[in-house]
Amino acid sequence: MFHVAIIMDGNGRWASERRLPRVAGHRQGAESVRRVLEAAPAEGITDLTVYAFSSDNWSRPAAEVSALMRLLRHFLDNQIDNCIRNGVRVSAAGRRDRLPRIVLDSLERVERATAGLTRVHLRIALDYSSRDLMLEAVRCGARTREEMSRRLLPDVDLLIRTAGEQRLSDFLLWECAYAEFHFTQRLWPDFGAADLASAVSDFRGRQRRFGGLPQGYCEIPA
Ligand code: FPP
Repeated sequence: MFHVAIIMDGNGRWASERRLPRVAGHRQGAESVRRVLEAAPAEGITDLTVYAFSSDNWSRPAAEVSALMRLLRHFLDNQIDNCIRNGVRVSAAGRRDRLPRIVLDSLERVERATAGLTRVHLRIALDYSSRDLMLEAVRCGARTREEMSRRLLPDVDLLIRTAGEQRLSDFLLWECAYAEFHFTQRLWPDFGAADLASAVSDFRGRQRRFGGLPQGYCEIPA
């Protein structure tokens, strides 16, 4: 398994640089999701999780929230055939009870249609709050690390955040315990296959120690 998670930042900046409404940046951002998903298998990525809408994003202006919801529905409806053709399983992570019916219907349709596919698992974090999901896992009886991990998403190997931001913003807090972080100035709507390749190559050059010592470490006698 190779799990890459992405915090997609900079849609608004991309749009304002072009004197366009913010939603134009989100639309272009959805196109980047499609590109990155297409490029994922060649990078060995088996699990891709994208942060599309945080539970705190409900506080954005209503017009932006509904534009984002329409965009999500459009993406889910339009990508379903592509996902089936390319062996991509799609699912969502986060609360479902506050999502508009139209988004939920499209989501459930794509989840059903792609449930058996195994090449890449695209998870869309929607109305997502890592803190809330951890609390829920505990409320549902998780008491050990293993039980927590079973109720949450797989551990993240590489976390990418675009547009120069360097925060986790309530995303995959448990799952990123040993993730490698890659921050880039690139705005999400400009992010493409070459940026993904460069992030993965940066990751491949890292030495992951999980709290231990480097492989083959040998103490020099004093
Ligand atoms: C952050 O940029 C981006 C979001 C809050 C929304 C992300 C949504 C998409 C990329 C499009 C739809 C997603 C899918 C999966 C099809 P920002 O608006 O905070 O940008 P800024 O920091 O420049 O203001």
